[in-house]
Amino acid sequence: MNTTAPLTHSEEWQQMTALAATALPPLKELFNSDPGRAQRYHLSAAGLQLDYSKNLLTDTIKQVLLQLAQRAGLQDKIDSLFRGDHINNTEDRPALHMLLRSPQHSTAREQQVHAALASMERFVGAVHEGQWRGYHSTPIKTVVNIGIGGSDLGPAMAYAALTPFHSSRLQCHFVSNVDPVHLAQTLSTLQASSTLFVIASKTFTTVETMQNAHAARAWVLASGIPESALPHHFVAVSANTGKAAEFGIAAEHIFPMWDWVGGRYSLWSAIGLPIALGIGMQNFRSLLHGAHLMDEHFRSAEPGQNMPVIMALLTHWYYHGHNAHSHAVLPYLQNLYLLPAFLQQLDMESLGKQVDQHGNTLQCQSGGIIWGSAGTNGQHSFHQLLHQGTRFIPADFICAIASASPQPQAHLQLLANCFAQSQALMAGLTLKQATAELLQQGKTPAQAAWLAPFKVCPGNRPSNTLLMQSLNPQTLGALIALYEHKVFVQSVLLDMNAFDQWGVELGKTLGSGVFKALSSGSLPTDFDASTSALAAQVIAHYHPH
Ligand code: F6P
Repeated sequence: MNTTAPLTHSEEWQQMTALAATALPPLKELFNSDPGRAQRYHLSAAGLQLDYSKNLLTDTIKQVLLQLAQRAGLQDKIDSLFRGDHINNTEDRPALHMLLRSPQHSTAREQQVHAALASMERFVGAVHEGQWRGYHSTPIKTVVNIGIGGSDLGPAMAYAALTPFHSSRLQCHFVSNVDPVHLAQTLSTLQASSTLFVIASKTFTTVETMQNAHAARAWVLASGIPESALPHHFVAVSANTGKAAEFGIAAEHIFPMWDWVGGRYSLWSAIGLPIALGIGMQNFRSLLHGAHLMDEHFRSAEPGQNMPVIMALLTHWYYHGHNAHSHAVLPYLQNLYLLPAFLQQLDMESLGKQVDQHGNTLQCQSGGIIWGSAGTNGQHSFHQLLHQGTRFIPADFICAIASASPQPQAHLQLLANCFAQSQALMAGLTLKQATAELLQQGKTPAQAAWLAPFKVCPGNRPSNTLLMQSLNPQTLGALIALYEHKVFVQSVLLDMNAFDQWGVELGKTLGSGVFKALSSGSLPTDFDASTSALAAQVIAHYHPH
């Protein structure tokens, strides 16, 4: 237990909540009265631009938020993170995902990282060049990554995001769900002899991954490939080489992972093997480089000019000053459609906790709900609530100036929609404007007066816009690292360990008891009445006698 007063009791936190309770002129007026606002609340780093001017922010508020960060000891915590202190204190280890993208070769860990990258490079080259082949010397055409959580979401998201960079030689698929339909549907169009499975699991004990890995093995054998040829079709990425070897993967085909890399921070390691296979090693190294540029920015930029720090402070301001419960992530790039799901794990597994790093009950809300989808699709679904609902939901818009598509007009439509959405959220539509619009459309004054309230959009709804020149391996790397560091800063403001995830364990333990009951057909007496009734129906179906 820590006996120092929590940050919530600090003068700076009180100042923050007092400022939140003080009415601020509408954002539209803040823009009108301050011609330099857009330039002042703008940052560039690692190929990304952040326009944070459409936030409920003034120089005074920014100052108080920065003082809060200082009171939380942010700079020391950043130094501690990069130094490799055991900031994951409940698991007594560092969180050193930044090392995975560092060009340094000095320390033993850095050398391990570069040796692993070199072995990935050799492997990717061998598969691409056809030296690594399947049964009967068949060239590998498809890669199926079997993993879940951090061993799936990052690689799947990055592979989709970098579609224009895909190698024409290979297609990658990602299977995560223990629902057998996921694997079966993926395999239904594939040929075993040209398929390579990557079994990705840091622990190599995750039930879903093990179940799917065994099913994949059975599928390969059932296709007529002999057991002796299995090594041509299975490689693994794991920190648990013993378990991977038990599954039957030869030591030289197990790519390493380390306990100082958390699952949700692991796409930069050999967990990124399917990305490297999909886009080639040179592009994978560009992804690492982009993340490294963001690391350097995060480590060295002063807090008031630091992109992850500013984004985290704004989220903190909305969660704890304005009682926001969620944050929308709205990529206006179809290839980033999996980004919200990736960020859900990154943010919610890191910040979804009820105690601080000392085990004390939090004196404020934990992290919030991350959600969203690719624009413009969301505009025709949930944006209605963003514009007119009574809830307060800050949002991040993410877009790129250039597109890989040969249709510039369509891309301009996409960008126009993106900018217009943040503009509409910020400016809104007053009753007077709505009435004038209706009269102009030919409505009678009575009709206009009746309809106008339905059209009113309150505005003053905050958002960030992240703009990049184009979505490519380097800018994607920077974008992901930006959110990783943002989450870290939020954890500092909550005095929380962002790198453990004890909450997922209970469900796993109970799940194994329920599975035992369903598969044996015997209900234990200590199940609650609801679970017993649900399980009884399944047992009646699978064990009729
Ligand atoms: O259950 C949560 C979790 O531990 C995640 O943190 C992790 O990314 C995922 O499971 C998969 O774990 P593994 O890579 O060990 O299979």
